[in-house]
Amino acid sequence: MENVFVFDHPLIQHKLTIIRDETTGAKEFRELVEEVSMLMAYEVTRNLPLEDVEINTPICRAKCKMISGKKLGIVPILRAGLGMVNGMLKLIPAAKVGHIGLYRDPETLKPVEYYCKLPPDVHERELILLDPMLATGGSASAAIDFLKKKGAANIKLMCLIAAPEGIEAVHKRHPGVEIYTAAVDQCLNDHAYIVPGLGDAGDRLFGTK
Ligand code: URA
Repeated sequence: MENVFVFDHPLIQHKLTIIRDETTGAKEFRELVEEVSMLMAYEVTRNLPLEDVEINTPICRAKCKMISGKKLGIVPILRAGLGMVNGMLKLIPAAKVGHIGLYRDPETLKPVEYYCKLPPDVHERELILLDPMLATGGSASAAIDFLKKKGAANIKLMCLIAAPEGIEAVHKRHPGVEIYTAAVDQCLNDHAYIVPGLGDAGDRLFGTK
């Protein structure tokens, strides 16, 4: 699949299995989502450009590398995306965090926006949109629409589990957006839940089930 990157690292796969398990409680679920997000951040940032800098080590002057170029922004889709923020910030502490609030209308299953606060220089940033479950793709597509309207040009989508339907929907509308995921599952069920998935990510993160 073009522009889809599936992380098959054993640590990520192992942790994802525990995340999926229905007996995993909210505390462990949260911790593992944070850990997996941190491991994924390592890969999502793999192609960030580097520049040479000169520093003094205790031994001598040295030419070393630092990340250059675009500034980063991470944008969780409320509320489940919040579970991925801390893991990302552990590796990218200088990233600014925007928030987009969308909920899925239970009747139409379409996304409705209720909150948006983004860094003012969003057009200059490489944005990583966070949503653990890419199900129908409706929320992610709407969030990407929204970011583009605000001037964002460089957007990646990072999730834990993607359904083929969601990948197709996002790429139909936004073919240039790279999707990073720890798994591509089988399909959606009649209630637009991912199968086998992990259930409702927001409820499991925040213990609201
Ligand atoms: N959102 C979730 O939290 N889980 C799904 O399976 C689909 C959408």
